[in-house]
Amino acid sequence: MASTERATGGLRSQAWWDNAGNPEMTALYLERYLNFGLTPAELRSGRPIIGIAQTGSDLVPCNRHHLDLADRVRDGIRDGGGIPLEFPVHPLQETGKRPSAALDRNLAYLGLVEVLYGYPLDGVVLTTGCDKTTPACLAAAATVNIPAIVLSGGPMLNGYREGERIGASGSGLVIWQSKRLLATGEIDYDEFMARVCASAPSIGHCNTMGTALSMNSLAEALGMSLPGCAAIPAPYRRRAQMAYDTGRRAVDLVREDLTPRKIMTMRAFENAIVVASAIAASTNVPIHINAIARHVGVPLSIQDWQRVGGDIPVLANVAPAGEFLGEDFYRAGGVPAVMRSLLTAGRLHGDAVTVSGHTVAENLADAPPVDPAVIRPFDDPLAARGGLLVMTGNLFDSAVMKTSVLTGDLRAVSDYRAVVFEGPEDYHARIDDPELGLDEDCILVIRYTGPIGYPGSAEVVNMEVPAALLRRGIATLPTLGDGRQSGTSDAPSILNASPEAAVGGNLAILRTGDRIRIDMDNARVDVLLSDEEIAARWADHTPPVVENQTPWQEIYRSTVGQLDTGGCLELALSYQDLVHTKGIPRDSH
Ligand code: FES
Ligand code: MG
Repeated sequence: MASTERATGGLRSQAWWDNAGNPEMTALYLERYLNFGLTPAELRSGRPIIGIAQTGSDLVPCNRHHLDLADRVRDGIRDGGGIPLEFPVHPLQETGKRPSAALDRNLAYLGLVEVLYGYPLDGVVLTTGCDKTTPACLAAAATVNIPAIVLSGGPMLNGYREGERIGASGSGLVIWQSKRLLATGEIDYDEFMARVCASAPSIGHCNTMGTALSMNSLAEALGMSLPGCAAIPAPYRRRAQMAYDTGRRAVDLVREDLTPRKIMTMRAFENAIVVASAIAASTNVPIHINAIARHVGVPLSIQDWQRVGGDIPVLANVAPAGEFLGEDFYRAGGVPAVMRSLLTAGRLHGDAVTVSGHTVAENLADAPPVDPAVIRPFDDPLAARGGLLVMTGNLFDSAVMKTSVLTGDLRAVSDYRAVVFEGPEDYHARIDDPELGLDEDCILVIRYTGPIGYPGSAEVVNMEVPAALLRRGIATLPTLGDGRQSGTSDAPSILNASPEAAVGGNLAILRTGDRIRIDMDNARVDVLLSDEEIAARWADHTPPVVENQTPWQEIYRSTVGQLDTGGCLELALSYQDLVHTKGIPRDSH
């Protein structure tokens, strides 16, 4: 592998442009990159080649404006002394991809690993937005470990309907709230559609603290984007300026060899968990953050979420935990304002290094003043505890519950009658059936909705109660499942149960009518069955047939792990820090 010797300035791209051991290959690589106007002198000048990992497209409307922002990223890269090369990332649209965008997160990850490793790139700008785009990009950058920086696309503007700020967006809160009004007849279907459409008034991703805004905020908390990046609304002038600054900074990252493994340390992940609590982040973030941690070689566990974040108060008064939206969050100071409160309270590692080249504490020195209505003071929070409760018991090893949306529906210890559904189709077919006898004594359970069962794991655990219960004033029932729930949901759910039913989790042998005990103080969920009865049911159990519809589903199912450990492709985890452990790949011809 003569080509691992770096020709100029230590840049890996020069192995392509200046290949002393195989000069014909140099000509071949150069020749085709010239055909749209680059010059040999440019490519061989020793200037860093900066990839722009483009996640936007017509299929990914949440990120589509990155197609335009990329022009400002290019300007920044050029002014920083680098050369931009933009390329597409496998589309990841939360509201468009069936059976789930979660299935494709790891496909986009795999594709991006291959691109970042196999092409002449020295660094990369990761364009992020819609839910899975952030973790797919960060996990790939972690695996390859070339200098990388996140450019969020930003949330949509606030939506309004008849003068009222309308709580959310695409797959967001307005859906769940309006469905209840539709079910009780308070609005008709036309009004339902009008409300949902009004909630998406501009380019950008969901504007509640759903998975998109949560993950982009945590990318910033991890130190992987410039300070203040996450919350800038997509259409704002400041967003395009941030694109320029990010492109420019990407070049310096290469010169400083400031790689993801130097930034995403255990301390950075602890900061991310603390911020996750303070913004009442989506229940999807432990899955994604744990996946990124594993790919960057940091031993983060699901239990760390409660240990580190369990007693952090909710500061961000943003839906679904609070009342405001992304645009308000930005104007109130955004992530830097939240982080400065946490740092002042002694709850952040101020010495963690970030892509800015400065530490967290240095970045926050001139953080904007807080608007206390939207970002509450640490000693007067929206809720005393924003963390996740990590639960265990005889139905699963772990599951999580978002404590910030609890409104007292679940008492400290309570027993419920299980009503079990085999997936969302079964739920939709039977939820209005009076035979179910639903009342406030029930817990709705959904299974075969995890990574292998679905496949990919679906956001279906936040099951709505039937209209008949709504009319009696019962707005929600506790729910439990091996799938996920929308980050914008406000339901009291126990979700991400691992192991899932499809791989032998005891949810598989649960029957409607079983009693389930939820003990909040001890964070336990148990079915009130003896071990002998559970064993007898397993002896009698016939698992449902899993049918793969695409080749990727078969590959995915053959190696995916469970949600508590990030739903990663387990075989990928033995590939770490590729640029340093594997060198530069062989010539192609
Ligand atoms: Fe893309 Fe919500 S659907 S961010
Ligand atoms: Mg979602």
